[in-house]
Amino acid sequence: MSRSEAVSAVRHGATLDVERLRADFPILKLKVGGKPLVYLDNAASGQMPQSVIDRLVHYRTTQHANVNRGVHTLSELATMEYEAARRTVQHFINASEDREVIFTSGTTDAINLVMHGYGRKFIGEGDEIILTTLEHHSNIVPWQMLVEERGAKIRVVPINDAGELLIEEYEKLFNERTKFVGVTHVSNALGTVNPIQSMIAFAHARGVPVLVDGAQAAPHMAVDVRDLDCDFYAFSGHKLCGPTGIGILYGKAALLERMQPFKGGGDMILSVTFEKTTYNTIPHKFEAGTPPIAAAIGLGAAIDYLATIGMDAVAAHERDLLDYATDQVGRLPGVRLIGTAAEKAAVLSFAIDGVHPHDVGTLLNEEGVAVRTGHHCAQPVMQRFKIPATSRASFAFYNTMAEVDALVAGIRAVQKVFA
Ligand code: ALA
Repeated sequence: MSRSEAVSAVRHGATLDVERLRADFPILKLKVGGKPLVYLDNAASGQMPQSVIDRLVHYRTTQHANVNRGVHTLSELATMEYEAARRTVQHFINASEDREVIFTSGTTDAINLVMHGYGRKFIGEGDEIILTTLEHHSNIVPWQMLVEERGAKIRVVPINDAGELLIEEYEKLFNERTKFVGVTHVSNALGTVNPIQSMIAFAHARGVPVLVDGAQAAPHMAVDVRDLDCDFYAFSGHKLCGPTGIGILYGKAALLERMQPFKGGGDMILSVTFEKTTYNTIPHKFEAGTPPIAAAIGLGAAIDYLATIGMDAVAAHERDLLDYATDQVGRLPGVRLIGTAAEKAAVLSFAIDGVHPHDVGTLLNEEGVAVRTGHHCAQPVMQRFKIPATSRASFAFYNTMAEVDALVAGIRAVQKVFA
């Protein structure tokens, strides 16, 4: 057992057989430029196990037709599988009812749905929306579009130097004009895990609904929307071992029913005349047009796969990876960690003195190490730290301590080039 493996075993009892799990992911066997792929860009997109690939092929080769539209065998089969995937998602996040689970094209689409469906109906002139400095652009820009249209206002929760929300400032932002809160569960740029449960309770005590951007949380920890009591929770399939082009909006049924549709078209209606259209019930009211059927079924298969591992085991292993990486990268001279919150998940952002992050990414790639460099679609976070960009390693349950060692060796190699 190597030192890094021993560290993991001591901390969490080494419950995850990572080597066995890695064998499930064909892409992890790739070499990049002759070097074994070290895939540390999971916050941008996760990889897909063979079981999900097989499920997509099975659907495409034996089950595909349009859903909710035919009485023929294939259409009924596809509809059944699509709705089964919805129930799989329902159980994954512990939603009360399957009609509270809406298939979208991704987290961005889900947040835009809430902006159009809830925001445009219930937020007006002079109203205030609370967001945080840690938001991804997808939980900023839709709300900016709304406030521009409606004459509303965005108030922003600041962060400290560790990248943690200043909760006392959050609480001070509330007043009688506060109509909505949008907050990320986990920061994609820094990895900070926000105390969303208490933030939601605080907002609810003032009658304000809360949307949680769960894109960087759902792949890394067990999410229970009933326990959180969030009003909306959005996440993407492709960060969760599933396909691209599929995402989830969870919403409390009572809210979804009061909202207006986001997109108009087939399937979201009960009846249409040129005089009047009556909308369908939820969730169909929000699923206009032919949905991403295969992708939804693929997401269901991805969740089934994750269930065989267990999200608590995923979280424990990733905690070990992050602790080890934080320790090893943090002790390198000339390297600064960006984001040092007490509660973090799966993300290590860093800056190397005298080296632009894009050069870091390019040189690490030559070592086979895939990281993301840039502002990570979170420019307000970069502005807060007065930097244009970071290099970001982001972990999944299939990463190993040896891959953290490869990252550290890669950073040393970068520093040598620029010495
Ligand atoms: N939002 C994704 C990321 O953080 C794409 O990389």
